[in-house]
Amino acid sequence: MARERLVTPKPTTPEDENLSWALRPRKLSDYIGQGKLVEKLKLSITAAKKRKESLEHALFHGPAGLGKTTLAHIIANEMGTKLVTTTGPSLTKPGDLMGILTNLKTGDVLFIDEVHRMNAAVEEFLYPAIEDFAVDFLVDSGPHSRLIKFKLEKFTLVGATTRAGLLSAPLRDRFGMTFHLDFYPPGELANIVLRSSKLLNVAIDSAGAMEIAKRSRGTPRIANRLLRRVRDYCEVKADGDINQTLAVEALKLEGVDEIGLDDMDKAYLKIIIKNYVGGPVGIEAIAATLNEESDTLQDVVEPYLLKIGFLRRTRKGRMVSNIGYQHLGYALPERRQQDLF
Ligand code: ADE
Repeated sequence: MARERLVTPKPTTPEDENLSWALRPRKLSDYIGQGKLVEKLKLSITAAKKRKESLEHALFHGPAGLGKTTLAHIIANEMGTKLVTTTGPSLTKPGDLMGILTNLKTGDVLFIDEVHRMNAAVEEFLYPAIEDFAVDFLVDSGPHSRLIKFKLEKFTLVGATTRAGLLSAPLRDRFGMTFHLDFYPPGELANIVLRSSKLLNVAIDSAGAMEIAKRSRGTPRIANRLLRRVRDYCEVKADGDINQTLAVEALKLEGVDEIGLDDMDKAYLKIIIKNYVGGPVGIEAIAATLNEESDTLQDVVEPYLLKIGFLRRTRKGRMVSNIGYQHLGYALPERRQQDLF
């Protein structure tokens, strides 16, 4: 029998989806965190606007839920242009891009999410489009086929990827600006929770906001999702106002522990500990045991476990560290007692 999937990387219900959009900042001045990135982006946007030019192509890379899509929307909004969104895997052939590219006006933003998942033909078709703002398109086939050159307007490509390492060098080199997004510290996440609470019209104290922040795995998308779950809990179990005690109760019910690990994180670590004596074990074996895609595990589960040092990636496979064992309350296997982890 297929087991229920535990990972919920993006909002799952239409209501959550709408709320998730409503909470996103639309201007750089409303954006909390990623200070250096925001400063550099602001400078480039201001300079481009001053010169009345379109912004150079920009690449955002970093773990899921940290704001890559939000920043693409903000760029178009700040430039006063249109945003067109697509994803790498949905572009199956050059023709899929042709219609999009020829409709872009000067300064418009083409956002390609999961840009590392474009196929080679689409990627090669994109090169002259982003370098020379022109594309060669083959019309007809056989003896009647002709290459037609289309001039494009000077648009801005914004690419987003959770795996910069999988991007081909020629594509990576064609972005004039590359920005890395890192996990947010709890103080910044608490400020995001306070801002979102205001937008949702919910009263929350600073200890309540910090409790949600500390359990959000450094990720604004998770912070906003947990805020909505805590809000539900406080409306039903109390008078609707959020404080630390109620946040702790609500998040316990959600299966989120004191440091933000959820059922999926724990299931992932437990598989390695119980089935593979702590590792090393390959990602495909873990994915098969958990009935999850290995890409999902690599994009959604592993980055934070690596960040907090619960997980190690070695040449031989994934290993749970000593502090990972400790947090889950398991004794170290005997052969590991001596190791420095
Ligand atoms: N909501 C989600 N991410 C945010 C951020 N970085 N700043 C403000 N609000 C947000």
